[in-house]
Amino acid sequence: MRLILAPMEGVMDHDMRDLLTGINTFDLCVTEFVRVTDTLLPNRVFYRTCPELLQGAKTSNGTPVRLQLLGSHPEYMALNAQRAVKLGSPGVDINFGCPSKTVNKNRGGAILLREPDQLFSIVRAVREAVPAELPVTAKIRLGYEDKSLFLENARAIEQAGASELAVHARTKAEGYRPPAHWEYIGKIRENLGIPVIANGEIWNHEDARRCMDASGCTDLMVGRPSLVTPNITTMIRESVRPMSWSSVLQLILQLSDRDRQNGKWQYHPSRLKQWLNYLRKAYPQAQNLFERIRSLRDADAIVEILCSDLARAAS
Ligand SMILES: Cc1cc2nc3c(=O)[nH]c(=O)nc-3n(C[C@H](O)[C@H](O)[C@H](O)COP(=O)(O)O)c2cc1C
Repeated sequence: MRLILAPMEGVMDHDMRDLLTGINTFDLCVTEFVRVTDTLLPNRVFYRTCPELLQGAKTSNGTPVRLQLLGSHPEYMALNAQRAVKLGSPGVDINFGCPSKTVNKNRGGAILLREPDQLFSIVRAVREAVPAELPVTAKIRLGYEDKSLFLENARAIEQAGASELAVHARTKAEGYRPPAHWEYIGKIRENLGIPVIANGEIWNHEDARRCMDASGCTDLMVGRPSLVTPNITTMIRESVRPMSWSSVLQLILQLSDRDRQNGKWQYHPSRLKQWLNYLRKAYPQAQNLFERIRSLRDADAIVEILCSDLARAAS
């Protein structure tokens, strides 16, 4: 089984990838998307989204990190893909699943799922620009408004030369509402020759087993579950329980240290609240902590509370 850490814009940045790959066994991470319009982006944009490029495109524990691009213009997608791999990304992933209104209005992300020909043109252009030994992969949803084109889209992406396809088993219209329709991933897998990666609502070992049964996939991608229960790959691979709350607190404090050192202290409160918002789905203690820090704006005051909670949890 391969487990891949999903791209999550605004959440799964370099620090989060580093923390999560440090306590899990992921085979690959995909970055947040780099938005491509009609320019060749400067190197700094790639380094900002993927600082791992400066360390061999790997997280600190050696997990490879692949850069994701989002855009609709084949030529500029190709040029930027070329730059991404030149800077060291082990291949390029293309985002055809983003539901954001702004992104879709500019003809990027999930809206392209209405145009299989355009998916083909983008993937083909990127494939031709990236050296053959490096993978060009894509990530889709099952459709935009409905699922009528799910297979046509997947086939177009394969025919254009994609190496792998990750499928988030919902349409754009379905948003993030459960369930994920894993059986559609199975239909895609049966019709394609390239590896298909199943994604959506894989929260634990039991879900992973059901998803693999329904889709026939052995490669899985997880996003939100890695923020709700940070030891997610061990939970999936070995059917263990979520890590203890005191271990989660220690992990949070590692993030605090990083943010303090990296000049991100002023954003730290909102980042912690964002993570607690995920964690509270699994940990009642996170809900309680969230309520106590909700109105606080000062990172130092919040970290003081975290430290005293940790002392209490560990005693
Ligand atoms: C806040 C947020 C940001 C996301 N950003 C991206 C992104 O940049 N690129 C992408 O392909 N998918 C993105 N996704 C979709 C996830 O990668 C994933 O497909 C989705 O969350 C379903 O998987 P999950 O149930 O494991 O979370 C994002 C999802 C969320 C919730």
